[in-house]
Amino acid sequence: MSFTETRGAHALASSTSPLKITIPALQEKKRNHAPISALTAYDYPLARLVDEASIDLVLVGDSLGMVMLGRDNTLTVTMDEMLLLTRAVRRGVRRALLAADMPYASYHVDVADGVRNALRFVKEAGAEAVKVEGGRNRVELVQRLTDAEIPVIGHIGLTPQSLHRMGGYRVQGKSAPAAETLLEDALALEAAGAVLLVLEGVPREVAARITAELAIPTVGIGAGPDCDGQILVLHDLLNLTFAPAPKFVRRYADAASVVRDAVESYRKDVEARTFPSDAESYHLSAEARSGFAGATRRQPRPA
Ligand code: KIV
Repeated sequence: MSFTETRGAHALASSTSPLKITIPALQEKKRNHAPISALTAYDYPLARLVDEASIDLVLVGDSLGMVMLGRDNTLTVTMDEMLLLTRAVRRGVRRALLAADMPYASYHVDVADGVRNALRFVKEAGAEAVKVEGGRNRVELVQRLTDAEIPVIGHIGLTPQSLHRMGGYRVQGKSAPAAETLLEDALALEAAGAVLLVLEGVPREVAARITAELAIPTVGIGAGPDCDGQILVLHDLLNLTFAPAPKFVRRYADAASVVRDAVESYRKDVEARTFPSDAESYHLSAEARSGFAGATRRQPRPA
């Protein structure tokens, strides 16, 4: 057994695929043309289910601000919120590589601040990599994080933290010069030490070219099928977002209907007094029952 194939010390007994996914394992997948599967997760139960389904990479995305906290965008997500939920996900993930998203303003003041915040994800929440949005403007940060032994996932294209600059969530890299800029950003991030790149909201042709030019894996979201892997927001895939799905989302389940039906059935059973049943109740022993039946009622105290 090689070192990269060593079982995680706390491998879940129920995991169908016991091999721990590492950064070198993901890079080997690219070399072997084996697709990388990635999903977001934000809490213990869903992280555990994602991990047990043998997804390679679990990202605690700052999309949690929208899908978990009901906000309009990701810009207000804080380090404390990210750390809290990354710790919860950490408890559920054993096999997958666990990455945490650096929220807006956690690396935008200066590089030293970015390194300090990234270290918190590793030391306080057990993340194995961090993700930062941006291209050539992140080169120094990626180098410093890499020097600090923190694997960095880059994220270019439609970067939600650039919402106001982009003027909305728009596909990026649609003209030849814009596509060229994305390619240069990708190459710069790779040269700086990034271990993997998320390509979001870019034309298929651009993602395919970047994927072909890079030695590190690309994982696409709204970037077509030619990336080395795919990532989706888990709540999009499960229909738990209360919004129409973007074009690139495939709904694999309707969890909203499952939950709504279950909760409505519960409410109806409570209202019809059919829940709980006798079998769902605790009972006194026969001895305690007869003693209790004969017990005198407490007299009200005189006023
Ligand atoms: O925040 C997030 O969930 C992400 C993924 C969409 C890549 O950045």
